[in-house]
Amino acid sequence: MPQTADRTEGITGSPTLALAAKAKALAKAGKPVLDFTAGEPDFPTPQAVKAAAVKAIEQNCTKYTPVAGIPELRQAIANDLHRRLGDPIKYAAAEVMVSCGAKHALYNALQVLCDPGDEVIVLAPYWVSYEPLVRLAGAAPVFVETREADGFQPDPAAVKRTITSKTRAIILNSPSNPTGAVIEESRLKALAAALKGARADDSLCIISDEIYDQIVFPPARARSIVQVDPTLIDRTILVNGVSKSYSMTGWRIGYAAGPKNVIDAMINLQSHSTSNPASISQYAALEAITGDQREVQRMAGEFQRRRDALVGGLNEIPGLSCFNPQGAFYAWCNISGLKQPADAIAARWLEDALIATVPGEGFGSREHVRFSFATSLPTIEEALQRLAKWAGERRR
Ligand SMILES: Cc1ncc(COP(=O)(O)O)c(C=O)c1O
Repeated sequence: MPQTADRTEGITGSPTLALAAKAKALAKAGKPVLDFTAGEPDFPTPQAVKAAAVKAIEQNCTKYTPVAGIPELRQAIANDLHRRLGDPIKYAAAEVMVSCGAKHALYNALQVLCDPGDEVIVLAPYWVSYEPLVRLAGAAPVFVETREADGFQPDPAAVKRTITSKTRAIILNSPSNPTGAVIEESRLKALAAALKGARADDSLCIISDEIYDQIVFPPARARSIVQVDPTLIDRTILVNGVSKSYSMTGWRIGYAAGPKNVIDAMINLQSHSTSNPASISQYAALEAITGDQREVQRMAGEFQRRRDALVGGLNEIPGLSCFNPQGAFYAWCNISGLKQPADAIAARWLEDALIATVPGEGFGSREHVRFSFATSLPTIEEALQRLAKWAGERRR
């Protein structure tokens, strides 16, 4: 059996995808499984976006494009960031690159920023892919906990204490997967000050993963670190994409905006790996970003209704307590009252109640289980009934 390279040691497949596959297999076998594992909106891609893709095919936009994306899309992303983030945030099209999903943009960024021995600060709980992405870049993740009692807000003093001469970057993710926490403006400001105070030059970078920034529940407001401190724009790689906001996960379009030398290095790297993201998907993304935005708001409103139903219901079940997410579509439910680790509880729920969730271990917590509310209200209501029954039987 051929041996694989050292750097792939310990890199396993995404645990969220594995559980989703198990739930799908049970459903296929005819079991009435309620699936809360989805990491993607359950809505169809908006009609106008689909039509733009069909048009792109018919107009033979089916050849290689520039590696960093078609110029219209890069410009549209720069305009969109300015429209949404406001003055003075102005990127040139050359400071934007399009990748095959936000995950690919993160991969490219970490590959070009990190050298072996570097450290990257990751706030916990964290999205499952950050650790392997950092390790694949030869760097070491250094985790800084956020506390539930503090609304999963980052602690700027704790971050500052963690910074060493080896720290190359910090990854921010607001709204967060898995907690749904949105970093408050005051915390972002304090964090910006801590980062600048730790190192005067621009060698400590910020990777700001803002993929859920349009799925936010008022009165919460997602702010980017470059908005609260525009002087950080020279060392921030802002990552976003169309996957979540426009329900386009399968189209694989994400992007990064940042300092031109970093973006250029990412483009060079991409030129030797995937080349351009799919041409048809780029035309679809162009329509998504420049077209009618009402669908984005409608979907966010629907997620908010589901959040209210799910979180309210979970908090009534003995042994569970659930943080109220201000964004994204995940409920990060504390199961410590059940006195068993998260993976055991998730396995019990799947077996006893046919409810598929994602245990928190992959996100850095044994005390939480993640429910995705990218599923219908009737599914949420049925699951709450099943969980209440399960909890009642367990207490007997
Ligand atoms: C926090 C976070 N960042 C990035 C991504 C990846 O997005 P994409 O599908 O565009 O690669 C996800 C997807 O689950 C995510 O949750």
